[in-house]
Parts: sequence; structure tokens; C-alpha cells
Amino acid sequence: MWIGTIIGGLTISTIGLVGYQPTGQAPATPAGWILGEDADEKKNPLTADAATLATGKAVYNSKCADCHGPAGLGDGPDADPEARADMDLTNPKRAGRNPDGVVYYKVLNGRRRPKMPAFKGELTEQQIWSVVTYAQSLRKK
Ligand code: HEC
Repeated sequence: MWIGTIIGGLTISTIGLVGYQPTGQAPATPAGWILGEDADEKKNPLTADAATLATGKAVYNSKCADCHGPAGLGDGPDADPEARADMDLTNPKRAGRNPDGVVYYKVLNGRRRPKMPAFKGELTEQQIWSVVTYAQSLRKK
């Protein structure tokens, strides 16, 4: 009888766990980035043309510049001073670690510590890809 209860309990918690995990995403790390399994392969569907960059810049200035700074140096008024190097979007050495899909998921899901908000629900897919394009354009060559 009690075995049945334990198994019942296990079943419920297993279902709970499965239900909690967003489909197609790697399990959440406690404080860090939450990247989808396809982050390394996912390609930006937009072309980096003037219209995309203009949309991306508008999104950046309203949603990102307060932390990342007007030129992406990580020096905005709301920047976390201890995370400044990690917030520098212009560092070319970081480009290899930040292909399209990785930047997309960082913006989509954010992280807890140091804090970057998740923009899922706040920005459309199109706006996220536009701001990804713009953020990548801030990289120094
Ligand atoms: C509340 C402040 C805040 C806002 C707003 C914010 N970010 Fe961030 N962002 C951070 C912090 C802090 C980090 C560094 C986290 C770490 O790796 O330690 C970061 C890191 C990043 C990175 C990763 C850089 C790298 O080389 O790993 C990208 C890309 C990024 N942000 C893009 C954006 C974009 C695009 C927006 C706007 C849509 C945005 N962020 C809005 C705080 C912010």
C-alpha cells in the first residue's frame, strides 16, 4: 500500500518536472544563460540590411542601451560594474562564443546573476533578430 503511494508520488513529480521544462531547451542553469540545444546552429533569418539595422538600433536604444551603453561597451547607467567586461558587446574576441543562435537565446531568456532580463514576450521574434543583428554590428573588427 505505501509502495503504491511512493510510486504515485514519484509519477506525479516526474510529470511535474517534464511539464516544467520548456520543450526543445536545455535545462535551466541556476544563474547563467539558458540556451536552446540548437543555439550553435540556429541562423539569423534576417539580412543585415539598412532596414533591419534601423529596427535593431531602435530596439537596442530603448531596451539595451541603459545597461550595455550607447555603443555597446557595457557602460550604460544601469550596468553592473563587476560584469562590465562580460557586457562589452564590441569585443571581437567574444564573437566566436556568440554566434547568431547564442545571442538570440541570451536575449530571449536572459539570466539571473549578473542580471539580464528575458525579452521573451516583450519583443517579437522579428525584433529579437533585429537587435541581434544590430548588437553583432557593434563588434569591432
Ligand atoms: C539590466 C541590464 C541589462 C539589460 C537591459 C540588457 N542586458 Fe545584456 N547583459 C547584461 C549583463 C549583466 C550581461 C553579462 C552577463 C555575464 O555574462 O556575466 C549581459 C550580456 C549580454 C550578452 C552576452 C555578451 C557576451 O559576450 O557573452 C548579449 C549578447 C547581450 N547582453 C545583449 C543584450 C541585448 C541585445 C539587450 C536588449 C534587448 C540586453 N542585452 C539588455 C545586462 C543587461
